[in-house]
Amino acid sequence: MLPFNKRYDKSKINKCIVFRKGMGRLFEKLYHVRKVIIMHGIIFTELKKYVDTKLGENVWDNILKEIGLKTKTHMPMYMPIRLYPDEEAVAIVTSVSKIMGRSVPAVLEDFGEFIVPTLLKMYQMLVEPEWRTLDVVENTEAAIHKVVRSNIQGAEPPRLICHRVSSTEIGITYNSARKMCGVAKGIIRGLANQYNERIAIAESSCMLEGKSACEISVRLTE
Ligand code: HEM
Repeated sequence: MLPFNKRYDKSKINKCIVFRKGMGRLFEKLYHVRKVIIMHGIIFTELKKYVDTKLGENVWDNILKEIGLKTKTHMPMYMPIRLYPDEEAVAIVTSVSKIMGRSVPAVLEDFGEFIVPTLLKMYQMLVEPEWRTLDVVENTEAAIHKVVRSNIQGAEPPRLICHRVSSTEIGITYNSARKMCGVAKGIIRGLANQYNERIAIAESSCMLEGKSACEISVRLTE
């Protein structure tokens, strides 16, 4: 604190105020940047793989051109260890859904199923070898998504709330601003494929129909 009885140079004080206002604006800018929702690069690299596999190798570039991400001077190169704006993923998936003639939630579900082998490989150290479909789902929040959140600043996987109804059934409450319950259902199907299990998925409440959360149940059928 400055001494109380000292006489101050007013111009210096004004300069100081201008400086502090500038810093405030800088903070506002930084704050705004941090508010942009961003997504793990693995989702983008897998989206490219998904498009290459399902639609052919030249389609990805055309999609990026069509949605304005690829220009004469710029071509996005997504990397698995970086984060990218959610809106780019949304634009890509919307374009894919038009090309495939399928709804966005249906594409997200198919994509969720597609991405599982890579997720399991990339995060194998977090998945216990004895776990099967329902165990992975049950432990995703505490053992996987929580780790993703704390290791990768800015990543925001959904906070899944699970309750084991019985040894063959689990209930999941999914709540995310992204409203990507399709991805959740697809990941569950993908896990069942990996573990050679047959399952039935039912969704009794859905954010896409205006509900505050999606309620998904998964039951082993044999
Ligand atoms: C091996 C298991 C899993 C791994 C390694 C994993 C990892 C991830 C990662 C890295 C993201 C991107 C997050 C971001 O960038 O903000 C993500 C998103 C997501 N995960 Fe998982 N996850 C796993 C299992 C599950 C399961 C079992 C479900 C659902 C039952 C699920 C539902 C989702 C959904 C819906 C998203 C999209 C983002 C959102 O809705 O907010 N994940 N996950």
